[in-house]
Amino acid sequence: MKLFVLLGLCLSVVESYRFLVCNPMAIRSITLLAEGVVKHLLKAGHEIVFITAFPDKNNNNPKLRQVDISENYRRMQAEDILNITFLMENTDQTIDLELLQEMYIDIGIQTMENENVKKLMQETDQHFDAVIIDWVDTDLYAGFAGVFNTHLIWSYSMGPYWPILRLIDGHSNPAYSINNMSPNTLPLGFRQRVEELWNQLHWSYIKNFLVFEKEKSVYEKYFGPYAAMRGRTLPPFEKAIYNASLVIANAHHAIGGWPQTPQNFKFVGGCYIEDPPKSLPADLKKLMDSSTNGVIYFSMGSTWRSKDIPKQLTEGLLNIFGKLKQTVIWKYEADLPNKPKNVHILKWAPQTSILAHPNLDFFITHGGLLSSTEAIHFGVALIGIPIYYDQFHNMVKATTAGYAIKVNLNYDLIKNLDAAIKEMLTNPSYKAMAKELQMRYHDRPVKPSVEVVHWIEHVVKTKGAPHLRSPALHVPFYQKIFLDLLALVFLVLLLIVIGLYFLLKQLFKLGTAEKRSKVD
Ligand SMILES: *[C@@H]1O[C@H](CO)[C@@H](O)[C@H](O)[C@H]1NC(C)=O
Ligand SMILES: *[C@@H]1O[C@H](CO)[C@@H](O)[C@H](O)[C@H]1NC(C)=O
Repeated sequence: MKLFVLLGLCLSVVESYRFLVCNPMAIRSITLLAEGVVKHLLKAGHEIVFITAFPDKNNNNPKLRQVDISENYRRMQAEDILNITFLMENTDQTIDLELLQEMYIDIGIQTMENENVKKLMQETDQHFDAVIIDWVDTDLYAGFAGVFNTHLIWSYSMGPYWPILRLIDGHSNPAYSINNMSPNTLPLGFRQRVEELWNQLHWSYIKNFLVFEKEKSVYEKYFGPYAAMRGRTLPPFEKAIYNASLVIANAHHAIGGWPQTPQNFKFVGGCYIEDPPKSLPADLKKLMDSSTNGVIYFSMGSTWRSKDIPKQLTEGLLNIFGKLKQTVIWKYEADLPNKPKNVHILKWAPQTSILAHPNLDFFITHGGLLSSTEAIHFGVALIGIPIYYDQFHNMVKATTAGYAIKVNLNYDLIKNLDAAIKEMLTNPSYKAMAKELQMRYHDRPVKPSVEVVHWIEHVVKTKGAPHLRSPALHVPFYQKIFLDLLALVFLVLLLIVIGLYFLLKQLFKLGTAEKRSKVD
């Protein structure tokens, strides 16, 4: 008996670590990912300080301290790019990469200027076993690792695209790696390969020549003093950003098409999804249970709002939904008068619980990464209406994989969506493919929620997991593609040619001299 108690005590003394999780982007979906990681780490007995724009007001877990940066949220809301009507009326808008970079740096400044963040950074007795920073286009936040003299882990809401791979391995080959904003599909044709090469060169030029110095000065200005407060000097920016132990990525292998990745890139896609999902609220459950003709779920996500869809289109949508025998559940953030009997609106939707319901027929989505992942998790086919950023790329991937139909967001939406709905209801191939992908997705040795905790703990246990890092990271580009060898070969060939030239010239001279002497 005593032995058992002792054993029990030993087992319960799991090593408990402290982590700083920082999620500077006030985007609901990206924060959901971080909340998933936080939840799993807390469950494993660790302590968390969480910098978030969406603090949980009901938190009573003593091991979780939230640092409220909801000010960042108010700033994001002012962006026109979150307004569906604006985007539809300004379709010629190409994404200005430099402006986007500037925006991320601005958000960085705003985060570091936040009183709550300042307060945390001034507490010199804070200690962390690792910092877990969400990476969205800026490398600034590597400063947290420098200030707290600890290991850096990037979390990333997308897959192994080269903007993140460059930080832990190197750029991936544009001949077969497609970036997250590209509409291209594999295998790449000549023109597409050139496009992908151009995308990398263009982005790298902006990052290295137009943005780098600014990022570096912000890094030094905002993190330097906090390091000094602790008697440390901040590592140089150009070293600090390449010093991550791990990338935990919201990506999985079900669809494939990824380029090779280093050992410290971890595919923990879907780890944030509640598994099994929470049960539905009673009224919604009753509605879905009784919808024996099936349910169509329609949501434009948490960042864009259905209520920003132009009025005439909204009426058109209600009109085509009204003709269906299925129940339509629409996440719509305002009241919607005169809607048909089979259309039900929800201002907030428990999405994963809806996707898990057996009566669900399919899902009409904006194609955000979380929605696309959740659809595969629950084996649900999609009609995608992409709006912005990576959504076009996600939907091209989904249609190529065969579990989705893509519809463009423009004033022909009603006609095209109507046709897509008819196709989805009559052609069973999309749903069959969704089930196939669901099987592939779940067929892993451990659940991603277990894996993510394992790798984060592994970093602490192994003092930064140096053994997982890619040797490619510190090999200069010219050495990687053997430009130096090429130069040497070229030089040797050149010398041989020059040598031959002089030799032949001499022989020729000799020949003509002999001839001349004979003639003489
Ligand atoms: C969205 O954009 C449209 C068109 O530019 C504009 O009329 C409307 O006021 C905007 N809505 C919001 C909430 O900003
Ligand atoms: C890189 O991180 C390790 C811990 O993972 C740390 O010991 C080292 O000082 C860091 N180096 C730089 C240049 O930031």
